Amino acid sequence: MATQANSTTVQNNSKRKILVTSALPYANGSIHLGHLVEYIQTDIWVRFQKMQGHECYYVCADDAHGTPIMLRAQSEGITPEQLIAETSKEHQADFKDFAIAFDNYYSTHSPENRFFSETIYNRLNDAGHISKRTISQAYDPEKEMFLPDRFIKGECPKCGAADQYGDNCEVCGATYSPTELKNAVSAVSGAKPVEKDSEHFFFKLPDFEPMLKEWTASGHLQDEVSNKLQEWFEAGLQEWDISRDKPYFGFEIPGTTDKYFYVWLDAPIGYIASFKNLCDREGIDFDSFWESDSQSELYHFIGKDIIYFHGLFWPAMLHGAGFRTPTAIFAHGFLTVDGQKMSKSRGTFIKARTYLEQLNPEYLRYYFAAKLGSGVTDLDLNLEDFRLRVNSDLVGKVVNIASRCAGFIKKKFNSTLSESVSEPQLFDQFADAADAIAQHYEDREFSKAVREIMALADQANQYIDEKKPWQAIKEEGREQEVHDVCSMGLNLFRQLIIYLAPVLPVMADKVADFLNLDSMNWDDAQTPLTNHEIKKFKPLMMRVEDERVQAVIDASKEELKATQSEVKQDSTASKADNDSPLSAVPISETINFDDFAKIDLRIARIVKAEHVEKADKLLQLTLDLGGETRNVFAGIKSAYKPEDLEGKLTVMVANLAPRKMRFGLSEGMVLAAGPGGKDLWILNPDGDQENGAQPGMRVK
Ligand code: MSP
Ligand code: ZN
Repeated sequence: MATQANSTTVQNNSKRKILVTSALPYANGSIHLGHLVEYIQTDIWVRFQKMQGHECYYVCADDAHGTPIMLRAQSEGITPEQLIAETSKEHQADFKDFAIAFDNYYSTHSPENRFFSETIYNRLNDAGHISKRTISQAYDPEKEMFLPDRFIKGECPKCGAADQYGDNCEVCGATYSPTELKNAVSAVSGAKPVEKDSEHFFFKLPDFEPMLKEWTASGHLQDEVSNKLQEWFEAGLQEWDISRDKPYFGFEIPGTTDKYFYVWLDAPIGYIASFKNLCDREGIDFDSFWESDSQSELYHFIGKDIIYFHGLFWPAMLHGAGFRTPTAIFAHGFLTVDGQKMSKSRGTFIKARTYLEQLNPEYLRYYFAAKLGSGVTDLDLNLEDFRLRVNSDLVGKVVNIASRCAGFIKKKFNSTLSESVSEPQLFDQFADAADAIAQHYEDREFSKAVREIMALADQANQYIDEKKPWQAIKEEGREQEVHDVCSMGLNLFRQLIIYLAPVLPVMADKVADFLNLDSMNWDDAQTPLTNHEIKKFKPLMMRVEDERVQAVIDASKEELKATQSEVKQDSTASKADNDSPLSAVPISETINFDDFAKIDLRIARIVKAEHVEKADKLLQLTLDLGGETRNVFAGIKSAYKPEDLEGKLTVMVANLAPRKMRFGLSEGMVLAAGPGGKDLWILNPDGDQENGAQPGMRVK
């Protein structure tokens, strides 16, 4: 029987066919540690299944469509295609460096996805599951587009706070409909929204109520998710608006010229499309995974915020269009840092790349594994606990076993392990733990798996402590004993690493190399390594340094400063990202989006900075724009000494019309902010060459 959300046994030896997905990250933002809870969780599970010898595929993609992506691209002066290509590269580099091993990483903006979106829509339409009716919505008459809730801002109807977006107030917490906002304006253009009619297409979800009631109650969902869905049934299923009017970045709805599929329609279909792309490349039998009576298993790992889409719309769409439904949906909770929601101002909104610049990705993989269970509860990254736990478990317990034994084997015993294991009982006890640990992995009870593995690591250390090879080696006639103890220690170490391999794949590879092994399979833990030559031991993992953790926090705060001046109007309201600081100074009259889009901000290197004779505020700057040189007069003399500026990078408005001044021609403007006098700061793109800031680069 296929594995479901809350029942499975791993002892069944037959080879399973398993397709696994993680939710598709939006293509307009960076991967952060919150996302990584999901991708790490899924990757561990997939690696475990592969180690069991099952035919398992892990696919994902960027979620590339929708209004925020369209507007973001416009604001950067690039096409959406360019934006999503850049983001895809960045996402894939982040995932790769966290050792997340997708079998395919694709995009929802792909021919396969267009094909399957149209196919599914047409089948639903032919079967009468699509309805059409005219609705009235907020419309931006200047930008000529309908406005999603979060692109309308105004004053909170409850407390009057200015600049509130969409349907809730960040100041008093009130929730309301965007039409209740006072003095509402379009966040795109600043124009006053009007109501406008247009015809929309709806997916008739209520048609699927009987099917969904049965499906959601039969083991495909975690209990708490299933209970949540029952509440939604009680509230009554609504038809789902699946169309958006032009302009939109997405796929046109067949038979229309000005309507597009809503991004959430084609997003989950992206799972199918990414898998199809993999199948075509590798000759995998696609149909056997997606036909309505498929015997393969299909799992979606998702966050708790997108249960509605995956628990109701998605199975209904699949069923209605003649595809198989998921075997199970595995929802996880949200990441908090030090007990609180990730916060930009506290420096705990940490991007994947910011972490990677300071810390080993496997620390985080281990920490998440040590805290992840099969439920939907939130997971806390406590930074102090993180450091202590990684140091004590991975460095202090696991790696320590190898470092205590490896040296003697190399120096005294010709790098070769003993002829036999000296403590077969201990070895067998470690081998026998395999099934229980496997069951925990299978059940996504990673914290339980880790706990069992660490209990074994304690035993291994205890064994070495008792035998004290470092003492025995000094005594005559005890050589064989030392050889046996250290060989035994390395065998136990190998068993632990096999069990940890889904969590620590990079470390496992290093250990395989050190132990001179071609591969590490789950079943290898059953057979000891004897009379086997090993290689030189190299340090496997360093301790987590407190300064490094602090550096991540500091860098995250710096990023905040760098983006603080960013216009908030194209905010994508990413789910964990609503902690943006409120500005203290009243903001000037709004400019419209097109005005803003015209400003060409570039990174410039200050190659020369000099005093200007007879000018009491100005410095004369020579700026390098990556090939082109500009002369700019800047009123920053009160705050900077010329010699302190030379060599630095800053941000300039590169397309400001040249201005004739008393002292010469000024060809642009550098950006500075502050109350004035000494307290004036030019924008200083962080990290210099190291993070790739180069003169001439466009600033986003
Ligand atoms: N694009 C949609 C998913 C479409 S799936 C057909 C989306 N993207 S997302 O980038 O916002 O989130 C991707 C995944 O990361 C989601 O499953 C989401 O729940 C998860 N997380 C995003 N922030 C998170 C935390 N702070 N903590 C844990 N998971 C989080 O939703
Ligand atoms: Zn309010």
